[in-house]
Amino acid sequence: MESGPLDSVIAAADRALRAVFAPAQATRAFPGSDTAPHQPLAEAERRESAALMRVNHAGELAAQALYHGQALMARSQATRAMLLSAARSESDHLAWCELRLKELAARPSLLNPLWYAGSFAIGAAAGLMGDRRSLGFIAETERQVEGHLDDHLARLPASDARSRAILETMRAEEIAHGATATAAGGRSPPAPLPALMRHTARVMTRTSYWL
Ligand SMILES: [Fe+2]
Ligand SMILES: [Fe+2]
Repeated sequence: MESGPLDSVIAAADRALRAVFAPAQATRAFPGSDTAPHQPLAEAERRESAALMRVNHAGELAAQALYHGQALMARSQATRAMLLSAARSESDHLAWCELRLKELAARPSLLNPLWYAGSFAIGAAAGLMGDRRSLGFIAETERQVEGHLDDHLARLPASDARSRAILETMRAEEIAHGATATAAGGRSPPAPLPALMRHTARVMTRTSYWL
């Protein structure tokens, strides 16, 4: 239970360290674990899938960081609870991406601490705009993530059914996160913010494809 500002900051630091450095724990089964058996891919496909899943892993970490930053600044308990619950759902996504990266014999982005820190700062700034704007920011984030996942679903090697199952489940849940935030009274963030988010996401996705 977080009672005062110091407790909130300590809890936020704890969440940050766990997200970045501890192995992600999924609370739900790996999507496609029964429908998409693990099959070895050709080397070129394995590399492409690994690069895309590294980007998605970094993106899920960034999504958690945004929510953690927003939760730290949330004015109402209800908003904070909703943000932390969305962040937990992102940590399943993170765990699934992490598992898939291992199966593909690949590592996560070396710059993950940087992606977390930058996204946390953006989330905290969004949180300072007030709860309704902060909820609107979630809706905008999830809209952008949905577009990004559509792009990855088109690029993923056709033979990689396991990664596809993960991305499809994530896509459906990101849409639900956005809808929940809008239904809770989210208001669109001011104009420069969606553009800044798009720009930041582009830097992150291009870099973590390689690094
Ligand atoms: Fe997610
Ligand atoms: Fe989400």
